[in-house]
Amino acid sequence: MDKGKQTKKSPAVRLSKAEQELVSAALSVRKRAYAPYSRFKVGAALRIAEGKIFLGCNVENASYGATVCAERHAVGCAVAEGCKDFIQLAIATSSSPPSPPCGICRQVLGEFAPKLKIILVNTKGEFVRTRLDKLLPLAFSKEDL
Ligand code: THU
Repeated sequence: MDKGKQTKKSPAVRLSKAEQELVSAALSVRKRAYAPYSRFKVGAALRIAEGKIFLGCNVENASYGATVCAERHAVGCAVAEGCKDFIQLAIATSSSPPSPPCGICRQVLGEFAPKLKIILVNTKGEFVRTRLDKLLPLAFSKEDL
């Protein structure tokens, strides 16, 4: 991703080695997405504080509402291993500009890391840096209960 082209939305910074690794993982797992209905493949790579990366891809179903998004898949894999200290997430699609996570995934990510660093990336190498609190302002959280 060294030659990654940044879109106008992103600040002028290069991806660090760790970010390149995360982005490569998201692009790679995207290829495993099961998306025969939408044909829209998504890969997610979630880094936790200890450095480990958890992966997810979208898994669609003939009963469309049973579809699981890539981001929530990655969150579930991390939580199942007892890891909830999320540091950064890369989301890979083929969209240009790179597409952001859906509302439900924003809410689920916010449960664990309200200010999660996020890199949106696409198969062309374009990327956008953002943060969950920018994507989900005034979020409903456990503090509201
Ligand atoms: N999708 C994700 O995996 N993550 C998102 O944040 C947005 C949407 C998937 C769900 C479905 O399989 C396909 O993309 C089209 O909506």
